[in-house]
Amino acid sequence: MRILIASSIYPGALEKLREQHDVICAFNAKQDELKPLIADREVLIFRSGVQITAAVMECAPDLKLLLRAGSGIDNLDMDYVREHGLRLVRIPGPGAKAVAEMSFALMLALSRNILEADRLTRQGHWAKQELTGHLLRGKVLGIVGAGNIGSLTGSMGAAWGMEVLGCVERPTATTAEKLKEKNIRLTTFDEVVSRSDYLSLHVPLGEKTRHMINAEVLARMKPGAFLINLARGGVVDEAALYQALASGHLRGAGMDVHAAEGHGKISPLADLNNVILTPHIGAGAFDSQREIGAIVLETIATFRPEAAVEYVNGHVPVTVI
Ligand code: MLT
Repeated sequence: MRILIASSIYPGALEKLREQHDVICAFNAKQDELKPLIADREVLIFRSGVQITAAVMECAPDLKLLLRAGSGIDNLDMDYVREHGLRLVRIPGPGAKAVAEMSFALMLALSRNILEADRLTRQGHWAKQELTGHLLRGKVLGIVGAGNIGSLTGSMGAAWGMEVLGCVERPTATTAEKLKEKNIRLTTFDEVVSRSDYLSLHVPLGEKTRHMINAEVLARMKPGAFLINLARGGVVDEAALYQALASGHLRGAGMDVHAAEGHGKISPLADLNNVILTPHIGAGAFDSQREIGAIVLETIATFRPEAAVEYVNGHVPVTVI
């Protein structure tokens, strides 16, 4: 098959694809760079960091399969995908494990001042007394978006002895029951926001969630709480968060995702000491990427472009693996 890979994937999977197919790699290429490269491609593999717009896909008359090697599809024009009957396969499962663990990496690093402790110790400062931190055990962990990744994060919090609250966009009795099995209590967004010591965001970015965490919501958070964002940068109003952190209302924030991402982009939060900034590495565990790579290989090996597409409500259904 003729494949364009627009984001980095597990090296072993890339090697196998190169052996078996006609592969072009253009990691994190801009739209204008993608347009000529996608012209004769049948398959597009991508993650975050690239914009798969209608203008890009219009240049690819042979395009049949889109493989999202991860979860979020906020960088993909879904209207175009639906209108043109393109098949989309999402692979959110493996990355969820890495993102959930990374939430804890950020919560623990913030709570125990790990970055500051490392810096001072390297400089010869023995700041044992100044660096007393906080336990996770006994605290309230709030999950905004208790879906695939959020509920995994919540169940890990429960295992750490935290009280876990979660909210979802469309709560149902079945969801409440499923979350209960993971020791997460389904409640309202308002309760999650106002009761959490650690508020962890796991919603996709869309019209309803853009700047969902704004000045008004931040003001309703508990004084001294921590905010953790491994969802998408656009979910948080960074200017409002800056104020909430600078004023001391929030104790700290762990931000893996940012309104502006990529080389040369510096977060407006970068001059605050009570913030940890990482470059969208939540899903970046070798184990998860290896698993995603294997699913990518399997999906392409079993893909039959000539097979009849089964439409649901006039659209090709998105396959989620
Ligand atoms: C995802 O949505 O899967 C993550 O943001 C990581 C990635 O871009 O692969």
